[in-house]
Amino acid sequence: MSAPSLAVPSSGGRFMRRLSSTEATRESMSMGPTVVVPPKHLMAPSNASEVAAAMEVARHEIDSAATPGTPITPSETLVTDKYAYAFDIDGVLIRGGKPIPEAIQAMKMLNGENEYGIKVPYIFVTNGGGKTEQERCLQLSQQLEIEVSPGQFICGHTPMREMAERYKTVLVVGGEGEKCRQVAEGYGFKDVVTPGDIIKDNQDTTPFRKLTSEEYENSRARNFAEVEIEAIFVFADSRDWASDQQIILDLLMSKNGRLGTRSETFEEGPPVFFSHNDVVWSTSHDLTRIGMGALRVSLEAMFKAVTGKDLKTTAFGKPQIGTFQFATRLLQQWRKDTHCIDMPPDTVYFVGDTPESDIRGTNEFDSHADNSWYSILVRTGVFQEGTKPRFQPKATVDNVLEAVKHGMEREYKKALKASLQDSNALDSAVVEE
Ligand code: G3P
Ligand code: MG
Repeated sequence: MSAPSLAVPSSGGRFMRRLSSTEATRESMSMGPTVVVPPKHLMAPSNASEVAAAMEVARHEIDSAATPGTPITPSETLVTDKYAYAFDIDGVLIRGGKPIPEAIQAMKMLNGENEYGIKVPYIFVTNGGGKTEQERCLQLSQQLEIEVSPGQFICGHTPMREMAERYKTVLVVGGEGEKCRQVAEGYGFKDVVTPGDIIKDNQDTTPFRKLTSEEYENSRARNFAEVEIEAIFVFADSRDWASDQQIILDLLMSKNGRLGTRSETFEEGPPVFFSHNDVVWSTSHDLTRIGMGALRVSLEAMFKAVTGKDLKTTAFGKPQIGTFQFATRLLQQWRKDTHCIDMPPDTVYFVGDTPESDIRGTNEFDSHADNSWYSILVRTGVFQEGTKPRFQPKATVDNVLEAVKHGMEREYKKALKASLQDSNALDSAVVEE
């Protein structure tokens, strides 16, 4: 018996879509994603729905999402409408600012360099941040040698955009220099304070931290005795835990976010939002490094030690169901805008390295969603061989290229099986006649 042809069989007429560049109008290529009202079944009855709502508004307001990315389909390219990929970034595609070698080939494979002769749509869902979505996409484009559009990208702080209307004066923590202030202002926050502004106003705030001359110059002079900080947003990893925690703690213990005051109840401070909850992450060191989730744990423990009270904070990002709801809508719009596919994929392959965020989130969302979300764990990041992850993936592979191959082979086999079943059914019908 001869081996099955690698030409992917058609199943029910919807396995893939043949597009030509003449079918895509300039308007359809350049229009930014519009908001898709989430179906009821996706609105999980948990605090995740608040996160989802925030993301919905955030998505709506990313005007630059209009830039089309790589999958501008050349004529006669086959694009599957059956399945898609969603990629975590750190530990899967990038490590310590450099691409994981197999990542470049994996992207090429999805963009048509594969034995099946097809393209597969994909998006990126990272908990990372610290720069604008546009800036991050540009960087990712260079690292992965493809074009990445904000229309196929979500980062940890994307949903914080929605909070711009709710809070006037906010403290923004983390990231390099003034970058997170710029991101927050770009999101529409009207009055953004940084820890540098607070130290500039009173350098005794942080006994062991003096501002550099550049920091001093960039920080804004104001009298904090007259300012009420309404909310605290940790946008990116803190570059100075001691100072940042001191300032956050001062605000949490204050009367209504006014520095220099002390609440008697310790219940009058502003709320704290973290853009994600990853306790560890994968970067250039051989071993994992502590991340924003560790700062969160530390802050909550410190607040308890100092005040005797529990501190409740909120985290966005994976594994929140809201993040996956948002990813669903992003993918739907991306497939529609760039591939003219106006239906959800049957399967989304989510490739991640962190069991607690990527695998947990994918598996939990799989049990909520109408379609299938298939978790693939790679060995290039947080997960270390020899340990047993608390959240079990559907598959574990060496790297992102293997993850892409795994999904494509699985889909090929599924399509082949469906096609054989179709032809058997047809044969029986002919015999019966
Ligand atoms: O700081 C970012 C890191 O915790 C995780 O990023 O891409 O693995 O979700 P990512
Ligand atoms: Mg990761």
